[in-house]
Amino acid sequence: APPSWTETTDVCVIGSGIAGLTTALHLREAGLHVTVVTKVDIDDGSTRWAQGGIAAVLDPDDTPAAHAHDTELAGVGLCDPKAVSVMVTEGPDRLRELIHTGARFDRHPDGALMLTREGGHRARRIVHAGGDATGAEVQRALHAAVHRDPWIRVIDHALVLDLLTDADGRTCGVSLHVLGEGTEDGVGGVLARAVVLATGGMGQIFASTTNPAVSTGDGVAAALRAGAVVTDIEFVQFHPTALYLPHADRAGRDRQPLISEALRGEGAHLVDDAGDRFMTGVHELAELAPRDVVAKGATRVMRRTGASHVWLDARHLGREMLENRFPTIVAACRAAGVDPVTGLIPVAPAAHYASGGVRTDLSGRTSVPGLYACGEVACTGVHGANRLASNSLLEALVFARRIAADISAGLPKQTEPVIPATDAWTVPESAREPLQRAMSEGAGVLRSAASLEAAADTVTTLASGRAERSRTAAWEATNLVTIASALLAGAHARRETRGCHWREDFPDADPGWRGHLAVAVGPDGVL
Ligand code: SIN
Repeated sequence: APPSWTETTDVCVIGSGIAGLTTALHLREAGLHVTVVTKVDIDDGSTRWAQGGIAAVLDPDDTPAAHAHDTELAGVGLCDPKAVSVMVTEGPDRLRELIHTGARFDRHPDGALMLTREGGHRARRIVHAGGDATGAEVQRALHAAVHRDPWIRVIDHALVLDLLTDADGRTCGVSLHVLGEGTEDGVGGVLARAVVLATGGMGQIFASTTNPAVSTGDGVAAALRAGAVVTDIEFVQFHPTALYLPHADRAGRDRQPLISEALRGEGAHLVDDAGDRFMTGVHELAELAPRDVVAKGATRVMRRTGASHVWLDARHLGREMLENRFPTIVAACRAAGVDPVTGLIPVAPAAHYASGGVRTDLSGRTSVPGLYACGEVACTGVHGANRLASNSLLEALVFARRIAADISAGLPKQTEPVIPATDAWTVPESAREPLQRAMSEGAGVLRSAASLEAAADTVTTLASGRAERSRTAAWEATNLVTIASALLAGAHARRETRGCHWREDFPDADPGWRGHLAVAVGPDGVL
């Protein structure tokens, strides 16, 4: 149905984490009017939950080539070297700009930025803020900067339904469902000369995720519906160390508390029930191996012993270090009845990051003219089959500026949308939980053809349900069904093990699979 109201802007940015807000601020430097649309409140995305930090070459002994090398090793043959090179060389300047915008990172007494390590990094190159509250500080600084600018309009509590295209197939706006209204009266539209998707991740397709409730893959789903190329969607990264909470304590929680890799970067060890370190001997970097390797190591132990979690031992770091450097983690553990100063922390893998997404070029352009993608929703090629720790905030910073530069270099005139005559339908919100369970069971850390087919059967059944009213939760469930189907199709087709895609029935990497899978939505579902 056509939107019941529209407003017009130069550029519409969908999402209000580091990717969306940084893009908006750069667009303003070019004098453009920007509308930022955010699904709930401006600070509700994933950015504020980021702990570890932002990777950037700042140490005189470190080099962009070394950062690129670590990134490409973690990405297991699927990184785009040009995109990686752009990220590691432009990253330090973008970080300095973020500091100039107001973000305050932790410093040594002499004023130098503190640098830590995380999995897959062979050098100390990760800046952090508030110890382990980096994302909260970044979000605070960007939110404040956006708030100061009267030419950035923020529309909150608005879920993007679909991308609007003109007669030439160019993106010329978005339709929105304004939350809480729950009927078609809540459908509006923003007309724009370019649209930037910065909607973040899709962790909510799994039962256990570090992502907040809003991470329902809305941008990828809308891009799929608009015919944009989506690649590498099978590469969901599972963070090896989410705090494990017994079932009763998880009820009503949308996300699992993260226990940052930086804790391992500062020397914490992973141990099994017998107290033995299980990552030594598995990889030269032991607990600091790339994230997929550590998640697999933990999963193997859990399968062997039947345990529901492994343990992180940080006791030897001492009370002062733990409380000062990791206040967020210590508080989350203590709230769950665990004191990391005196006890072991129960941890288990949880869905953390979509390494794939809407395919973009080096300017953030998708395959649909006028449509850009930035941050976790995008697949720029920097992550390949597995993202290197703390490269996500960095990627967003770097490509946000490139997108703003590309848009401001050649903004077309506003055109009229062509509203398709098709009937929109949604699946019931009750699909969300069974979908999450089926995906964790069948398409989690460890997958096989049989497990993926079982999950696909459940998702297909859920997809045939029809919601009586298209409320926001029904739209989210519909998006979850769409991206779960796409993920399952990609994961089933990729008959090898690579990066964070682990197939029990194809346990080795296959050089013949050193390429990318694109998924699309056709009239009969996902292709
Ligand atoms: C962490 O702090 O362990 C997460 C960092 C990341 O996801 O890159």
